[in-house]
Amino acid sequence: MSSKTKCLGTKYVISKSVRFAKPPFSIDDHRSSQLLGFCIVIVVERLLFPLVQIMFQQSLYRINLMSKSFSRFFCGLVYQVISGHLGCVRSIAIDPSNQWFCTGSADRTIKIWDLASGRLRLTLTGHTEQVRGLAVSDRHTYMFSAGDDQQVKCWDLEQNKVIRSYHGHTSGVYCLALQPNLDLLLTGGRDYVCRVWDIRSKTQIYALSGHHNTVSSVFTRPTDPQVVTGSHDSTIKFWDLRNGSTMATLTHHKKSVRAFAHHPTEDSFVSASADNIKKFSLPRREFCQNMISKQEKTITNAMAINKDGVLATGGDNGSLRFWDWRSGHSFQQTQSIVQPGSLDGEAGIYALSYDITGSRLITCEADKTIKMWKEDTKCHP
Ligand SMILES: *[C@@H]1O[C@H](CO)[C@@H](O)[C@H](O)[C@H]1NC(C)=O
Ligand SMILES: *[C@@H]1O[C@H](CO)[C@@H](O)[C@H](O)[C@H]1NC(C)=O
Repeated sequence: MSSKTKCLGTKYVISKSVRFAKPPFSIDDHRSSQLLGFCIVIVVERLLFPLVQIMFQQSLYRINLMSKSFSRFFCGLVYQVISGHLGCVRSIAIDPSNQWFCTGSADRTIKIWDLASGRLRLTLTGHTEQVRGLAVSDRHTYMFSAGDDQQVKCWDLEQNKVIRSYHGHTSGVYCLALQPNLDLLLTGGRDYVCRVWDIRSKTQIYALSGHHNTVSSVFTRPTDPQVVTGSHDSTIKFWDLRNGSTMATLTHHKKSVRAFAHHPTEDSFVSASADNIKKFSLPRREFCQNMISKQEKTITNAMAINKDGVLATGGDNGSLRFWDWRSGHSFQQTQSIVQPGSLDGEAGIYALSYDITGSRLITCEADKTIKMWKEDTKCHP
């Protein structure tokens, strides 16, 4: 709307200057100069003016797009529903080259899918209970998985088989993360411990203990604090990877912490709990703000942020919400539709991830499907 008003303003200014150019020529009684003046007016009015107008409109359009990118509306639209798993889909990881992604399910399998077509490439078996954690290495041909069977596995994707197992958890494993520049794997679970493994030697380097309930989420970063864990005890802990000790504990949440999302470019993260979604800055671990939505709270199982600052959160009842990272406002709420043959109670998003470009969102759901979302360009909230 603002671009339209501005464009009209420009038109007015230009046409005024054209009229201003007229008088000197029409006052002159010499015919040829009158004709020349007339021609100039025609050229300005018919050719130059539309050209300038088009250029102005385009630059305004560009400015508009630029300012929009700070508070972009990403209206989600499902463009593909992938079926294949025989149980709830609980975990997801994207291949760093953006060619494929893998999902872990309550059907005990891991499936590898083509990202562009959504076609099934491979099914991997080996876990004996649901698969809750997945990660793909960007430095090796390895994929890592963990599940309720207390198992943590390293798969070689050139041979499509398990080449290492990491033994130590005494209960289900809920989360898994890879340290970005060391050969370290972190897993947390129902035994209240986050374990740090040497990927190659399979030895447990640390058992990070101190939480009083299930460790539901973990992420790592290259600099201190290198390890951040969230727990059903409602706290967030930061760990020192040099000696395995706790650096700090945040007690801002009043209910179980169930999900984290680390911003891909900014040094900040959000944590989700039934009481709220809270944003913190790193490395100083300062509370920034609560994410704001007018509707009542839902249990958030999964979150992801893309480079444009669009935070997507998936709820226990199948609600999918999009948030503006900077302002913390929720600008869209939508509901994942359960597939025919499923019960309404089967609505639920357990895991979600953007692809590497951040333009597609993939949700893993209770109705056994995987849904691919893209931006709805026709949507104007
Ligand atoms: C762990 O290492 C850090 C940094 O070297 C140090 O400040 C801290 O006191 C150590 N903690 C323990 C329990 O040794
Ligand atoms: C899910 O929860 C949200 C937040 O409480 C609510 O707005 C939405 O209507 C719920 N969806 C269903 C299907 O109950």
